[in-house]
Formats: sequence, C-alpha cells, structure tokens
Amino acid sequence: MTEIVLMSGSVRDGSYNSAVVATLRRIAEERFQGVRTTVVHPAELPFYDEGMDAANGSEAVLRMRNRVAAADVLVISTPSYNGAAPGVLKNALDWLSRPYGESCLDGRIVAVASASPGPRGAVDAQPGLVEVLGHAGALVAEHPPVAVANAGELPTADGEFAGAETLDALESLLRTALAAAREPVASLAA
Ligand code: FNR
Repeated sequence: MTEIVLMSGSVRDGSYNSAVVATLRRIAEERFQGVRTTVVHPAELPFYDEGMDAANGSEAVLRMRNRVAAADVLVISTPSYNGAAPGVLKNALDWLSRPYGESCLDGRIVAVASASPGPRGAVDAQPGLVEVLGHAGALVAEHPPVAVANAGELPTADGEFAGAETLDALESLLRTALAAAREPVASLAA
C-alpha cells in the first residue's frame, strides 16, 4: 500500500488550498491503485517551542510526525501570504523537521502545489516553501509548478475542483511524486 499524506497551508473555511487537497485525495484514490490517503491539519499543532519539543512535544505533534514518517509521499498545497507560505504551515514543517537529526521529512518525497483567487495561483509562495523543505531534508518532486490560478472562477463540485485542466495538472503532479517514491534516485537525480 502506498501512503499519501496531504496538508493544506490554509485553515480557512472554504479554502481553495483545502479544495486542492480534497481534489488530490479523490484523484489519488480513484486513479491510482493501492493508494491510501490521510489529511493532516497544521492548525492542530501548537506554536513551535523547543522546550516543549525537548519534553516530547504534544500528542498532536507526535501523531503528525508518525503519519508523515509512514508516508511514501507528502503533498502540500499552499496559499501565498505576502509572497510566502502562511505561518501555520511553516510552523508545522518546523515541528516535522525536529528532533534534530531525526526529521520525519528527511528523505521524504514531497509534492508542492498552490492556489489563489488571483492570476498567479500563489506560485510565488512555492520557491520559499521548497527551500524550507530542502533544509529539512525532503526531496521535492521535480514537476513544472502546479498553481491553481483564479480559483474562485473555476468549476467545482462538492468542495473540489472539477475542471479538466486542474484535474490533469494535479494528477500529473501526483504521478510524478508517486514515481519518485518508487524510484527516488532515477526520478530526482536529473
Ligand atoms: C493574501 N492573499 C494573497 N494572494 C496572493 O496571490 N499573493 C499574496 O501575496 C497574498 N497575500 C496575502 C496575505 C494575507 C495575510 C492574506 C490573508 C491573504 C490572498 C490569498 O491568496 C487568498 O486569501 C486565498 O484565498 C488564500 O488561500 P485559501 O485560504 O483560499 O487556501
């Protein structure tokens, strides 16, 4: 069984990035065989605190670390807040990057997407996010940026994106990440 963990960088009700995550989840389950998906929620975590971490974090932190540690692929969809990923997402990645030397992100295949109601689809938040992931040892799947632009005008159904172009882009990203998880060296070395 291939485990996919998904995370939205937005905690907003009606978030476009959460809709991207929901769409990716359905695509993963419907179009790929032997895949199991779990959505994790950055807002469940406290603000990062090294003292709390040294004292073994919190239940929510340990649960998320275990989920990510068991994942073949982590998929993140982020908004752009002033050109960067929101603090709540960075906070989650900081928790996941610790304890030092034991980051559950280390060697993890990660796929990055973004969405916004604007014409750039929050693509400007992706490079910074990729850099943070790299610091934590994650292997970001190489794929042309998937940025869901003008998200408020796209066709949706049941809280998911429904347009063919969006579905194709998200499926392609997932396919690349799953291929990288199967053969990390061949898929990521280029
Ligand atoms: C934004 N938004 C935004 N959009 C963008 O394209 N570039 C940006 O730099 C910013 N900056 C920004 C900062 C802050 C603090 C907020 C609250 C919002 C708008 C953002 O794209 C919009 O709120 C999205 O709907 C957020 O994503 P979700 O919540 O729909 O996933």
